[in-house]
Amino acid sequence: MVNFFDDKISERLGGINFGKSTVVYKFELIKRAKAAARKAHPGVELIDMGVGEPDWPADGLVVKALSEEAGKPENRWYSDNGIPEFQEAAARYLEKIYGLKGIIPSENIVHGIGSKPILAMLPICFINPGDVLLTTVPGYPVTATYTRYLGGDVYNLPLTEANSFLPDLDSVPPAVLKKAKLMYLNYPNNPTGAVATADFFKQVVAFARKNNIVVIHDAAYSNLTYDGYKPLSFLSVEGAMEVGLEVHSLSKAFNMTGWRIGFVCGNSKAIKAYATVKDNSDSGQFRAIQKAAIEAINNPEITERTKEKYSRRFNLLVTALNELGFDAKKPKGSFYIYVKAPVGTETRRVFNTASEVSEYLITESLISTVPWDDAGKYIRFSVTFEADTQKKETEVINEMKARMKKLKLKF
Ligand SMILES: Cc1ncc(COP(=O)(O)O)c(C=O)c1O
Repeated sequence: MVNFFDDKISERLGGINFGKSTVVYKFELIKRAKAAARKAHPGVELIDMGVGEPDWPADGLVVKALSEEAGKPENRWYSDNGIPEFQEAAARYLEKIYGLKGIIPSENIVHGIGSKPILAMLPICFINPGDVLLTTVPGYPVTATYTRYLGGDVYNLPLTEANSFLPDLDSVPPAVLKKAKLMYLNYPNNPTGAVATADFFKQVVAFARKNNIVVIHDAAYSNLTYDGYKPLSFLSVEGAMEVGLEVHSLSKAFNMTGWRIGFVCGNSKAIKAYATVKDNSDSGQFRAIQKAAIEAINNPEITERTKEKYSRRFNLLVTALNELGFDAKKPKGSFYIYVKAPVGTETRRVFNTASEVSEYLITESLISTVPWDDAGKYIRFSVTFEADTQKKETEVINEMKARMKKLKLKF
């Protein structure tokens, strides 16, 4: 049937072909497989290690601050590009956690309704048609999607185990470098759990200077780090403030995904460009949420407690996965563990992709994971699974192990 909108959809969304694709994306596949498995095994608990969100709610201190602030008349207004108190608290946080000094809150920091919209808006500040974004794969796709919407091109830098899941900057062909305008990086990395080194960030600064490229560092997981690895800001490296921006989020480190609050820090001209786009896109996060967020970032021990939990769960999960035949190493950051996918089962089943493995794990064992086939075949397990006590954590991991053992996976 003809729909009035058939010929109205923009070319960037596929024009006349919008909505006609029969390709089923992996997250939809997982969702469908989960629903089917639940239906087939109504009495069996689904073990969800696929989620990219914390299992804890926001801290009581933060919830209390929101409940106190929500009804205050002075908080009702549009907050536009944000309240100065939040910018000041963010600057103090960057100094306390990452040792960043000399940040001018009103010039170098502007909030966002989570880091996702910030990552979506930044290409609008920099990309002209034909410009190239260098981005890492596997990865968070929003900045690349917007670059394409704007008529830019995307060049993928694969993250491989051989290179510690850092991009090989020397691999970019000169013709691509000529057109490259932006580079998107994310450490600690989703999905690999890899962390960057100061040395790598120094190389990035030199690369950006030499090739005239703006760096966007997505620090969504940046202070979720373990076993002696200290949170590292890209902006802490000499020269980074001149070439880069860093996007922070309260979603993961403060268990506030649904609250929608983050901020971007960097060079004042770049921040002004973001503020201009933002001002024309939204009217700012609710002031009461910004004030509750101040309470969060003033209390970094909230993150410490969360890290303790994830670290403990990683220890259990790594042991279990290795006993099952995976090659699992505890990551230094994020809440993900990224392992090579099995190639099949001893019962002669063959897996051609990681997606097939994930589908199999849900269907056969009611264990949800996220597959990645972008740079090798890998499965991502998240330690944000539901377990309200330490005893339950152990039970979940033991149950996962028992179910997977039955599958007789081959590596
Ligand atoms: C790498 C990465 N960046 C950014 C985000 C967006 O986070 P938020 O918009 O909640 O700040 C996510 C969320 O999953 C993520 O994994």
